[in-house]
Amino acid sequence: MASATERPAIWFVTGTSRGLGLELVRQLLERGDSVAATTRSAERLLAALGDRADTSRLLPLTVDLRDEAQVKQAVRETVERFGGLDRVVNNAGYGFLAAVEETGDRDVRDMLDVQIIGVWNVLRAALPILREQRGGHVVNVSSILGLTAVPGWALYSAGKFALEGLSEALAAEVADFGIKVTIVEPGYFRTDFLSQDSLALPADTSAHYPAIREMVADHLKLQGSQLGDPVKGAEAIIGQVESGDGPLRQLLGSDAHAYATAKVGALQSNLDATASSAPATDFPAAG
Ligand SMILES: NC(=O)c1ccc[n+]([C@@H]2O[C@H](COP(=O)([O-])OP(=O)(O)OC[C@H]3O[C@@H](n4cnc5c(N)ncnc54)[C@H](OP(=O)(O)O)[C@@H]3O)[C@@H](O)[C@H]2O)c1
Repeated sequence: MASATERPAIWFVTGTSRGLGLELVRQLLERGDSVAATTRSAERLLAALGDRADTSRLLPLTVDLRDEAQVKQAVRETVERFGGLDRVVNNAGYGFLAAVEETGDRDVRDMLDVQIIGVWNVLRAALPILREQRGGHVVNVSSILGLTAVPGWALYSAGKFALEGLSEALAAEVADFGIKVTIVEPGYFRTDFLSQDSLALPADTSAHYPAIREMVADHLKLQGSQLGDPVKGAEAIIGQVESGDGPLRQLLGSDAHAYATAKVGALQSNLDATASSAPATDFPAAG
């Protein structure tokens, strides 16, 4: 429960009325930590937590993450209520399953609004506090699809790859301030992620992509039998933050680890294949 500052740790978690975010809030409250939980609907969050949760250390915040002023206000309220801020979890996100050419302009902007603009709004509000106190931990929930991409998931991967780039740069930028960054890369987890309420689909589809229509049907059927257990996922994320250690990327799930291993192998083959041709575009060495 206690952080290095010898008081309950203060967390700011986004996307908390369902899935991994909800489970994180549940476990953090059980540990006695203080939690500012953002959601699009505080009522939905409180209903999901139910009567058994001790909500005396919970600050439920209805926030549109795309709105910088709302996010700033949420962070301000967190500090006012709990007296500080230690840990930030950018968890909010959703899937989108379509071929690249079926993906509309609005679809792209909506995804990046949540996965990039929203995260950046949170970071801009929270980092000055962590930097001033010379300590803290930022957890950005990416996906194994933030490391490798597969057909049908182009837009989701575009958002998560962008989140990974931002996070990798951030980790190096803030290390000297004592701020840790973790990129979480889950495989399939048994949350609401693949339910019809969460998984977004394109307005118009093309008859040229029957394999992607099959994928959509298969994924909706997979809902409820994914390999990953969100209770263990939340425990693992909290455990790594508590340890104050661990690698930049936290893979969750044997499926995620296998996909990542295949990606590294493919990337190594690609590097090997271009090792002799890449230097050909250099200027000749001076002198
Ligand atoms: N489950 C998986 O298989 C899986 C795999 C890899 C990565 N992930 C990532 O894990 C994170 C949590 O997902 P989950 O599995 O817990 O899915 P989930 O059960 O569908 O929950 C997603 C959460 O994200 C928030 N959210 C969804 N759409 C949003 C939007 N348009 N604007 C703002 N917030 C939105 C929701 O918050 P409110 O409704 O409370 O606002 C919700 O609590 C996401 O970033 C997801 O990409 C999940």
